[in-house]
Amino acid sequence: MSYSNLTKSELTAELAELSQQYEGFVEKGLTLDMSRGKPCTEQLDICLPMLDVLNSSVSCKSANGFDLRNYGILDGIPECKALMSQLIQVRPEQVMIGGNSSLNMMFDAIACMMTTPIVEGATPWFNVPDRKFLCPVPGYDRHFSVTGYFGFEMIPVPMTAEGPDMDIVEELVKNDASIKGIWCVPKYANPTGITYSDETVRRFACLQPAAKDFRIMWDDAYCVHDIADEGDKLLSLMDECEKAGNPDLPIIFCSTSKVSFPGSGVAAMATSENNMKVFKARYTNQTIGFDKLNMLRHLLFFKDFDGIKAHMMKHKDILKPRFETVISKFEEQLASCEIASWTNPRGGYFVSINVYPGTAKAVVKMCKEAGLVLTPAGATFPGGFDPEDSNIRIAPSYPPVEELKMAMDVFCTCVRICAIQKILSE
Ligand SMILES: Cc1ncc(COP(=O)(O)O)c(C=O)c1O
Repeated sequence: MSYSNLTKSELTAELAELSQQYEGFVEKGLTLDMSRGKPCTEQLDICLPMLDVLNSSVSCKSANGFDLRNYGILDGIPECKALMSQLIQVRPEQVMIGGNSSLNMMFDAIACMMTTPIVEGATPWFNVPDRKFLCPVPGYDRHFSVTGYFGFEMIPVPMTAEGPDMDIVEELVKNDASIKGIWCVPKYANPTGITYSDETVRRFACLQPAAKDFRIMWDDAYCVHDIADEGDKLLSLMDECEKAGNPDLPIIFCSTSKVSFPGSGVAAMATSENNMKVFKARYTNQTIGFDKLNMLRHLLFFKDFDGIKAHMMKHKDILKPRFETVISKFEEQLASCEIASWTNPRGGYFVSINVYPGTAKAVVKMCKEAGLVLTPAGATFPGGFDPEDSNIRIAPSYPPVEELKMAMDVFCTCVRICAIQKILSE
């Protein structure tokens, strides 16, 4: 029963029934929080033994004999650089290990380029008054906060099933030297969950920006985060950029926030030697070095890349039923109404849904009034403004499956009610 085929009185009858259901949810006094993509308790529990691997009986020396208990090694322990390089498909010498947060490294990278040109002789971005940044939408709200904070005009670029619309990206960067960069989450993107196609990666590597200091902020946050048995494969941007003669274009980021512990993981950045020289010159003034004992703890626990992959299989087992719950509820309760479309990702932390245009804010508000907190509508767009008022980010990881079922019942009911109200008002 596609809503577009129903008569006004049929829609009104449907609305009355759904409103009764909604009142039933409100009376339950629910408190459900799906506002952020946080790992659930079970996911944190599987990493608890990491807290026991570092104790007074283990050697705190790196392979090259450095005492990791002491100051030093700005760019991280070599073994940790080697491990993280495998996650993001670069060479170990291209990696710098940071603190506990990749977002922090992204903020630092932008802050650095604000004051110091990444290309000799270029103007620091602080002195480019009309500086702009490309923001694929829907995207990650905190990326947009960073470039918003530094005063960039943010230009939305639509996402396709293959990544950002590259026709638009190529055209924009070719013609406007005040466009200084683009935010990308190339694998299991936040929030659509799609992985950039090989062609998209190659087109990124071959970009010819008017700005010589244009940089691709390649946030590979979900590089090993499969949910499906057969995960997506992402081409190495670094390899492609080197092949294309554009080695300085990418700055690649990742962390173990959603591998080990969010807020207590290990973050990494990888880029060309030219770029890294500029970043390190700033970091030298910023810190004597990051937490090497936490790097060691991660190395002792995971041992190698296979150890990380095996650990991610455990995350997969916990997350898979949650994602399946969300998708099956959408299929059962929304598909036939033909008022919404959603993604069905093979990995990552989110499902993106486009509800009936003009109703996303109303849906989120209605859910909140029934005790279900979602990511604010619009958060997936720069400045919090979704011109269609349609996109909502669903984060299935945190609630237990039974709660998630209830949350999705509330959500689907609200999506349907708001769609009918909108259709009737049109
Ligand atoms: C795309 C993306 N990048 C970065 C982060 C945060 O990473 P970190 O904890 O390493 O700062 C998140 C967290 O949700 C994310 O979704």
